[in-house]
Amino acid sequence: MPPGMLYLDYAASTPVEADVAELMLECRTRGFANPSSNHVAGRQSRALIETAQSQLGALLNVDPQTLIWTSGATESDNLAIMGGAHYRAHRGKHLLTMPTEHKAVTDAFQQLEKEGFEVTWLTPDSNGQLNPEALAAALRPDSQLASIMFVNNETGVIQDIEALGTVCREHDVLFHVDAAQAVGKVPVDLHALPVDLLSLTAHKFYGPKGIGALYVADRPGCHVEPLLFGGGQQRRLRPGTLPVELIAGLGLAAEIAGARLQADLDKLTNLRSVLWAGIKSIDGLVVNGALEGGFPGILNVSVEGVEGESLLLALEPLCVATGSACNSQIQEPSYVLRALGRSDDLAQSSIRFSMGRPTTAEDVEFAAQRYCEAVTRLRALAPSAAA
Ligand SMILES: Cc1ncc(COP(=O)(O)O)c(C=O)c1O
Repeated sequence: MPPGMLYLDYAASTPVEADVAELMLECRTRGFANPSSNHVAGRQSRALIETAQSQLGALLNVDPQTLIWTSGATESDNLAIMGGAHYRAHRGKHLLTMPTEHKAVTDAFQQLEKEGFEVTWLTPDSNGQLNPEALAAALRPDSQLASIMFVNNETGVIQDIEALGTVCREHDVLFHVDAAQAVGKVPVDLHALPVDLLSLTAHKFYGPKGIGALYVADRPGCHVEPLLFGGGQQRRLRPGTLPVELIAGLGLAAEIAGARLQADLDKLTNLRSVLWAGIKSIDGLVVNGALEGGFPGILNVSVEGVEGESLLLALEPLCVATGSACNSQIQEPSYVLRALGRSDDLAQSSIRFSMGRPTTAEDVEFAAQRYCEAVTRLRALAPSAAA
């Protein structure tokens, strides 16, 4: 880490693993050719892509042919949701999702609403969990696609993807999962899970930015209309010259993530306990999401009587998030926390700590101490608002 900062924002992005960066550099000589070209150099590039496809396929336990490269989870989400809805539009125009999804999902649904689709916005419980029975109850004969995320980017809450997917299968509804915060961090076995479409992005699991993938299950009725048109790459689903070094980087990052998944999870579980132990005695502290069961790399807390942006400044040199990273320019209470029933004040004061591979116990002890001091100091400055 550069000196003078303590990075605890791994849910926003992760640094590229050293071996991944090295491979990507090597690709400048070994994989610069257009992988669509039918000569030796083109074949070399293709081989690098095929290796990456197998590495990602192994991490997800799926046939590598079912994976489409995209520019990241935003594009994968758009392709799955808009492409899936358009493909099924002749059968019906009812779609389902939750207000606590990432903007890459909610905005795609809002766009579809403008096009004449009808969207049911399912309400999660106060912990952010969606009850599969609530999904089943909201389905209609004209329902065609549901999108529910795996791990929530703000709270770390994990949905019961197996149960939700089973409901969708029973009703022949396409089931899309935004797994940007899950792949490479928690087990995702697409052979076992009833998922039709799944989005992922490399920069959340120590790979490069600007590359992701969409899984499209190989089963009848599961297909998406393309969003882009051009050369016939990737079975015309997502044309464009493939970025070999980014794809190779994603592949190796996936392999590394698979090899150390359990070790990473154990370490993060321990770090979150240390962090929680250091802050839990603060008066008026509220955990956003569940402490048990969620992804252990994220701890999101709100505190009464303190405002989030001031807290963020007072916490320097900690790099943490208030609201979601993708909305951090917008000074509004987190829409995800508002959907969980938090008041504007509590949602405003939320801080998301997210730990990663380089994080140590000393780091989180320091962060906890800093957080306690900052809350005390800010409350002293605004005594009337203090809890
Ligand atoms: C849950 C979720 N979905 C989608 C995205 C967008 O991913 P990308 O930055 O690769 O477009 C993110 C990244 O913040 C995310 O956390």
